[in-house]
Parts: sequence; C-alpha cells; structure tokens
Amino acid sequence: MSNSDLWVRDIITNYGFVSFVFTYAIFWISSKWSDLQRSVYKSCLTGFEVECAELSSQYKKNLFELLQHIISNDSRLRSMGCIRVLEIGVKTGENIQFYPDNTHLICVDRNLKLADYLINGNRSWQFSHIIIERLIVGDGCSLKDVSTGHVDVVVTTRSLCSVTSIESTLREIHRVLAPGGQYLFIEHVPESKGIFIRWLQKVLSRTGVWPSFFGGCHLDFDPIAHIKNVGFDRITWDTFTLEGYVSHTFQLILSREHILGVAVR
Ligand SMILES: C[S@@+](CC[C@H](N)C(=O)[O-])C[C@H]1O[C@@H](n2cnc3c(N)ncnc32)[C@H](O)[C@@H]1O
Repeated sequence: MSNSDLWVRDIITNYGFVSFVFTYAIFWISSKWSDLQRSVYKSCLTGFEVECAELSSQYKKNLFELLQHIISNDSRLRSMGCIRVLEIGVKTGENIQFYPDNTHLICVDRNLKLADYLINGNRSWQFSHIIIERLIVGDGCSLKDVSTGHVDVVVTTRSLCSVTSIESTLREIHRVLAPGGQYLFIEHVPESKGIFIRWLQKVLSRTGVWPSFFGGCHLDFDPIAHIKNVGFDRITWDTFTLEGYVSHTFQLILSREHILGVAVR
C-alpha cells in the first residue's frame, strides 16, 4: 500500500468511527428524550415547585384569608357555613392547608397521578379538614363536568402559565363561578426590569425549550391582560418578588416576579 492509500484508510477509520458514534448518540438521545423531559418536569414539581410554595406561603396566607369571609351561593353549603372551591393545577395539594375547615374542594389537574396522591398518598391526612368533592383529571380549559355558577371560588397558583389555552381556561373559570364568586390567583409574570432576564424568558419560551421541559410553562406570559378580557366585575391585584433559598436558583430567577389578585364575577 502506498502512503496516500494509508492516509485515506486512516481518515475512513477515524471519521467513520466518529460519525458512527455521533449517529449512535443522536439516536440514543432521541430515544431517551421523552424520559428526560418527564424526569426533569417531575423533579421540578416535587422539588422546586414545593420550595416555591413554601417561599410564597405568607402571600398565600394573606390571599386565602379572604376565603374566611365568603358566603356560599349554595343554600345547603351556606346553611353548614362552608364554601365550594375549585382549584386548577392543584398538584400535590400545596394550597389545601390554607382552605377553611369543611371546604368542599373540586380538584382539577391534568396529572394522572393526582387522584392517587391526594386520596391515598401518605400526606392525605393533611387534607382531612376539607372535603374532596371531586377530582377531575383533565385540562382546566374544559370544565364540562362542572355546571355553570356551581362554585364560590376558583384558585390558580403558578398554573396558568402552562394551560393549553389561557382564553378558554379563563372563560371556564368565569362560567363555573357563582354570581359574586371570586377568582383568586398567584401567577408568575415576566421580568419588568432585568432586560437580560426578560430576553432570556422570551427566548426560552418562544423556542419551546422551556415549555418542553417544564410541562408547557411559558415564562414570557402575562395573565393580567387576559383576566381583564373575560368580563369580571372587579379585578384587584398586586405584584411581589419571590425571594429566598431554593435548590435551583436559576429557575427562581426566571420565575420570581408574581402577581397576586382577586377577580370578582
Ligand atoms: C407548577 S405546578 C403548581 C402547583 C400548585 N398550584 C402550587 O402552586 O404549588 C402546575 C400544576 O398545574 C397543572 N397543570 C398544568 N397545566 C394544566 C392544565 N392545562 N389543566 C390542568 N392542570 C394543569 C400541572 O399538572 C401541575 O400540577
């Protein structure tokens, strides 16, 4: 074999091997991609989101204090001194501790494991002060199993950012509320000051990178304009920045600005 033949053989051997490894890696990553997305989202829900719920507990306490003063539109519940609440994105029941005793709760979440967790999980004793009236495993944008004007309060916390349709979800919230019923929300909103973070929120959301790993969450989504469009009688809201220690600081930086408010039907 001549020198040039050896040179060609070396190239084929080396680059052939590199292309084989590269192709194999692409196949391997794509076959594991959905497992990776699932495990990132699962660890976010059971780790970071639980930490956020703890950090926001004082804000939640203040907001949910309002529930103590609501009088049910349902005469039977009214006679018992309790109310009916529907929560969209209830997850592992982080807000239930703030609900008044004997609240009749309709839980909505698209997570299939929810029912098992809330009813049979080893934390279910923490929910013994309320009555879980119904568990709806499905999308908050279609609450067809809940009749019009059936609930006194609807709650969403850090959930609207990932619903499939914000307009339909808000229309459903408005529909299921009784006249005078209240929609209580705490949602993360885009950064207003940090130009770089705001840019990052847009890029990560619009390229689909963030939603694909975090259950459809959009960091650049601002719900207040949508809430104003649904036809509520009165809307009041305030803003706050979530601060404190979490295990994933970067994630908190990207979703630390919040609005907290009440919309009355
Ligand atoms: C980030 S977690 C927030 C959980 C809880 N509300 C809290 O503040 O700790 C979002 C929850 O909303 C649920 N979710 C997201 N999109 C939904 C949809 N379209 N319909 C119903 N639930 C949804 C997710 O399954 C998840 O449990």
